[in-house]
Amino acid sequence: MSSDKSLRQTADERGFNFGVAVDPDALRNDVSYRARVRDEFNTLTPENALKMGPLRPSPETYDFGDADAIVNFARANDMDVRGHTLVWHNQTPTWFQPWDYTDDQLERFLREHIQTVVGRYRRTVDVWDVVNEAVADDGTMRETVWYDAMGETYLDRAFEWAHEVDPEADLYYNDYGADAINEKSDAVYDLLERLLDRGVPVDGVGLQLHALGEWPDCESIAENIRRFQALGLDVQITEMDVAFPAGEAPEDAPQRQAAFYRDVVEVCLDTGVDTLVTWGVGDANSWIRVFRDFSERYTGDPLLFDDRNRPKPAYDAVIDALDG
Ligand code: G3I
Repeated sequence: MSSDKSLRQTADERGFNFGVAVDPDALRNDVSYRARVRDEFNTLTPENALKMGPLRPSPETYDFGDADAIVNFARANDMDVRGHTLVWHNQTPTWFQPWDYTDDQLERFLREHIQTVVGRYRRTVDVWDVVNEAVADDGTMRETVWYDAMGETYLDRAFEWAHEVDPEADLYYNDYGADAINEKSDAVYDLLERLLDRGVPVDGVGLQLHALGEWPDCESIAENIRRFQALGLDVQITEMDVAFPAGEAPEDAPQRQAAFYRDVVEVCLDTGVDTLVTWGVGDANSWIRVFRDFSERYTGDPLLFDDRNRPKPAYDAVIDALDG
């Protein structure tokens, strides 16, 4: 390691929130994982535990066990929590069949879910990804169960309900593929402008930054961040990981990956973005290893720590950037 300070110490000194998505089982059972989370990061996002599916084992019950474990760990270790996510079209409960419900029932269901979850974590979750991935890849509004039932105003209501229950929490819209200036980020920009025009209490936009195969251009990321800020929104990098196309990693892949991480941290510092979350601790836990056919499409080594949770060149690079 080039630095004798941990990432967490360096981030704390800089006043920067450097976060990580965590899995409750690994946090309970894997000693080196738990130590890395505690020592290297000052912000946590439950990778799955706060999504509707994991939280709702049956229509009448909630299971907050895993989410509580993560939130309690964060509080015990003086970390912030990004709550991910209240409204999404994926990872709904298996028993949840939208056609069993009328549109009004779906709206009541969503309101009750948001009120219950935000209420439970009032004052312990600092930031909520209220709505996740509402825009489709072609820039149209994604036709989800919530959109079909309520039209675009499902976003308005979701933010309003969350705000009513916890006026102190920062409320975010979060999406992938909208990191740089492109058709999708144009559409996200337009959507957020409409929400703000309607007085919806949205505080910020989360750019996920899954840099898989093709990595967005950093100047364009900076320009994109600045236009959202000009709307009056805060911006955070919420789910970063960096992989090469499978079978096409160059010999100096670890150094190139490190350079991209460094560049993104520098973009954050230059633009006043104060939060960057990586989507997992070590490569062994990356979602890319297990999600659909992604392990055939991308190298499975997108994070700051390797399969045994040892720091990689990317780790040194982000410390250098934060320390610079
Ligand atoms: O927990 C069950 C387990 O009980 C079951 O035996 C096993 C069998 O498949 O599945 C387990 O659930 C999996 C879950 O991850 C927990 O590991 C799901 O199948 C799997 O689909 C789920 O994947 C998650 C994915 O979201 C779902 O779309 C990834 O871990 C998670 O990293 C990923 O995160 C998303 C963000 O929320 C939004 N942005 C994109 C990002 C990456 O896709």
